[in-house]
Amino acid sequence: MGAHYDEIAALDAAYHLPTYARKPVLFTRGEGMRLYDDEGREYLDFLAGIGCVNLGHAHPAVAEAVAEQMHTLVHVSNLYQVEHRAALAERLSGLAGGGWKTFLCNSGTEAIEGVIKLARRWGKTRRGETCFEVVSAQRSFHGRTMAALSATGQASKQEAFAPLLPGFTHVPLNDIDSLAAAVTDRTCAILLEPVQGEGGVYPCEESYLRAVRQLCDEREVLLAFDEVQTGFFRTGTPFAWQGYGVRPDVMALAKALANGLPAGAVLASGSAAEALGPGDHGSTFGGGPVIAAAALATIGALEAERLGENAQRTGAALRDALRALAAETGLIAEVRGRGLMVAAELTEPRAQAVAAECLERGLVINAIGERILRFLPPLVCTTDETAILSDTLHAVLGAA
Ligand SMILES: Cc1ncc(COP(=O)(O)O)c(C=O)c1O
Repeated sequence: MGAHYDEIAALDAAYHLPTYARKPVLFTRGEGMRLYDDEGREYLDFLAGIGCVNLGHAHPAVAEAVAEQMHTLVHVSNLYQVEHRAALAERLSGLAGGGWKTFLCNSGTEAIEGVIKLARRWGKTRRGETCFEVVSAQRSFHGRTMAALSATGQASKQEAFAPLLPGFTHVPLNDIDSLAAAVTDRTCAILLEPVQGEGGVYPCEESYLRAVRQLCDEREVLLAFDEVQTGFFRTGTPFAWQGYGVRPDVMALAKALANGLPAGAVLASGSAAEALGPGDHGSTFGGGPVIAAAALATIGALEAERLGENAQRTGAALRDALRALAAETGLIAEVRGRGLMVAAELTEPRAQAVAAECLERGLVINAIGERILRFLPPLVCTTDETAILSDTLHAVLGAA
């Protein structure tokens, strides 16, 4: 680490609330799968800004769309029509198979807040004032604001901020009987990540999601998917539910929507799309012309470069390589994931140390707790690059 890093790290420690324990590196430039630090050292990025930069770093189509819009018009609010916003909503609807209406916001947490407000409004209109409860999964992650945190199924993130909002229950994932038992007349929505991300990359089983859809139809409850991390071809299809063949009524999007710029969206179809009216919800910045231009360019490039297919192919290769490593070393207990959303669960509590050593060796990977390594590379990732990852992991795991 150079003097420039030291200077910035000291400033960061002095002036930021310490909510993040940042890693000892200062990234100054990126291109595709690659990041460069302040001393020009190159890294392969298997995290993509926590699943945001699906097109890779500094994608020219997004850069140009943003630059052009910055020179034209940046912000006038949601009180007026602007270029690109409605076209983006149309594009999102098409990407999700048609029939969707969108509310644009600025982050995943905000998208979840929107989903919860929409579901409460929908429930109260249908079954009265007591129909406002949301059932979500244990170990889920839906964000950090009070409603999103209340929906999150992780006590460690919640306890310090009690009391949480009323009306949230959590059930074990992939257990349809527990879910069915938790749904009552007071339930307005079931909220699930098709693949739990922050919790450690735990995919829903296909039969489970089909049964959840059926339960929602039978009990008149909205099915809401949190596709904040799984969306935008991460798991192969535009949204993960398309790979499962289980369409929700509502979904939350963010992260890769504008390839790393702050953007989020709530999509609703059927009766859910009628739930909110003028004045019920809002956002000063949501769907502004710059972000909308960036999102349109992002979606266009994701499709043109066929990155969903690449995510499927490269993700399968990565899981195969990790399973081979598991068989050879006995140091990986389980490999999970869909597309390029992958985790390796270690047999020993070494995940943080392994991630730190990978960074030393020029690979950015993520550790969740002490046992799970998570890989969310840009979707331009090649099998040559995943081979470098598995070779490096082999060396790092073996070097204990
Ligand atoms: C599934 C899921 N939902 C919601 C969020 C919150 O998104 P944001 O950090 O953009 O508020 C995240 C962030 O990691 C997420 O993975």
